[in-house]
Amino acid sequence: MSADNVYPVPQNVADHALLNRQQYDQMFKQSLADPNAFWAEQADQFLTWFKKWDTVNNSDLAKGHIAWFEGGQLNVSYNCIDRHLEAHGDRTAIIWEGDTPGDTRHISYKALHAEVCQLANALKARGVKKGDRVAIYMPMIPEAAVAMLACTRIGAVHSIVFGGFSPQALRDRIEASECQVVITADEGLRGGKPVPLKENVEKAIDGIAAVHTVVTVKRTGNPVSWSEPRDVWYHEIIDAASTECEPEPMDAEDPLFILYTSGSTGKPKGVLHTTGGYLLQAAMTHRYVFDYHEGEVYWCTADVGWVTGHSYIVYGPLCNGATTLIFEGIPTYPDASRFWQVIDDHQVNIFYTAPTAIRSLMGQGDELVKKTSRQSLRILGSVGEPINPEAWEWYYRVVGDERCRIVDTWWQTETGAIMISPLPGAIDLKPGSATLPFFGVNLELVDNDGNVLEGAVEGNLCITQAWPSMMRTIYGDHERFINTYLSTYAGKYFTGDGARRDEDGYYWITGRVDDVLNVSGHRMGTAEIESALVLHDAVAEAAVVGYPHDLKGQGIYCYVTLMGGIEPSDALQKELSDLVRKEIGPIAKPDVIQWAPGLPKTRSGKIMRRILRKVATNELDSLGDTSTLADPSVVDDLISNRAGQ
Ligand code: WTA
Repeated sequence: MSADNVYPVPQNVADHALLNRQQYDQMFKQSLADPNAFWAEQADQFLTWFKKWDTVNNSDLAKGHIAWFEGGQLNVSYNCIDRHLEAHGDRTAIIWEGDTPGDTRHISYKALHAEVCQLANALKARGVKKGDRVAIYMPMIPEAAVAMLACTRIGAVHSIVFGGFSPQALRDRIEASECQVVITADEGLRGGKPVPLKENVEKAIDGIAAVHTVVTVKRTGNPVSWSEPRDVWYHEIIDAASTECEPEPMDAEDPLFILYTSGSTGKPKGVLHTTGGYLLQAAMTHRYVFDYHEGEVYWCTADVGWVTGHSYIVYGPLCNGATTLIFEGIPTYPDASRFWQVIDDHQVNIFYTAPTAIRSLMGQGDELVKKTSRQSLRILGSVGEPINPEAWEWYYRVVGDERCRIVDTWWQTETGAIMISPLPGAIDLKPGSATLPFFGVNLELVDNDGNVLEGAVEGNLCITQAWPSMMRTIYGDHERFINTYLSTYAGKYFTGDGARRDEDGYYWITGRVDDVLNVSGHRMGTAEIESALVLHDAVAEAAVVGYPHDLKGQGIYCYVTLMGGIEPSDALQKELSDLVRKEIGPIAKPDVIQWAPGLPKTRSGKIMRRILRKVATNELDSLGDTSTLADPSVVDDLISNRAGQ
């Protein structure tokens, strides 16, 4: 091992874990040497099939064709619920912890089955069929999981939109995937404050005739506008429905869900995942990465509006028969010890959160953590952005009392499941490194010309073979799927991330190498923010870059060129900030807006973002060559007007 700070696997952990190092090595080797045999065995072990597949893998990255377990049939809700009923129908499937401490519900697998069937029947009664798209725009309440599972029961394709997105962003997504049904709540509740979800839906679907049904969960009970027959209450339609609903047999390659995510250009992309491969890898990674043992309480703090919520709050854990905790609130309400209180209250064994939360709680001091017990904790996870070693050490030392293994998991909306991560009983840890690839994941680092780099080196992170939970396409735009992911380095999946591999073969993700930002673990495209800014009449042009931010990981830095004759002002700055909020949502609010009379452009008119990034980061000594700019003096102006952060 190298000279890095290393935390070896303690012998007692290796002894009790599902997999030790020897087993990991052996399985990893087999997964690359004989992938068909490997994945067939896993698919048998982890899932219940109505009909076995004909072919394990029929994928060709070069052609943009991905297919796993063709000919096989299964149903996701059956795998996540029904098959657990006989042995442990009374086990708690979902522990719900509301925004207000003490507001708690326990839902058994049996009860979950009944409610999912009821909603599935109610949706059918409203005309929803296999293949139809259903938008879900919900707070973190159990009904969100019920809605997802009810869709899968009847073969409808859900498209979840994060509750923090604006009506406009919701509208774009409903239109792009042609949803006819929206499932929402009257209001969400976060940190004691209501979030007007139904009102947002109302604005989002105004004038969209295709949306014939809006199902609303009564969460806060505050009055909302109502329009019949389109609007129905969740509790009323499920009360009227039967608690039995036959699961629809789905082909392994039938679409399961669409989830919009940001890319470096254009509008968000509807990432499409299918049934068999996705569920298999979500379940398998949940079991091995978190070393999930039967009976344990598992908590992932993500929102179901992001892929982490899909794979690791709902599908992975429930497929494994786990008890999964759904938390409605925020880490700092009523105070910044909430996470640790919830862990004690529900005796959580496995806890999975994002570095941004860890950093902000670290800033509140150790006392808020230390006053809680956290004795139940065994495994701590991290996801969404690189975790800086300082935050890692704090997580390890203070939250985990130097007893818990930390799994830093790297993956993406597109990968569907965790791709790089330590396994608790197998892999020695290094703070800040996601360590080694999961089974079947063949990583490569390449330089900008596509040359494969060997040994300890830094490069662009690619995956050279298709894996079961890989996205299949961008909904409605297969060309864009191929161009975005499979063309930069022909025949390989390009992640958009940079990474360093050290002398032990460990991977250290360095962050996005494209124009995608990662702000507090939320993924955003600079192009989307720019499009919002230029909607304002006063704006001629805008360029957005990320810069390092202590808490958020990255902050949003906007350069704005105003129309001739318009004077900059604080009021205008606020208007622009509000506009971005309105178009995308609060998560995209700019941190810095700098007035820029001109942007650095090449003679062919291309904005040189490298320079904008350097100015935003205050790395003025390393601006690089500016001689190719059409007007090099623009840079001096940008520097002298640099906005303070
Ligand atoms: C980043 C979230 C470093 C990365 C599951 C990736 C990470 C993007 C890590 C995907 C990690 C995610 N270490 N970076 N452990 N996990 N990322 O689609 O840049 O919301 O490309 O999926 O988050 O974000 P997405």
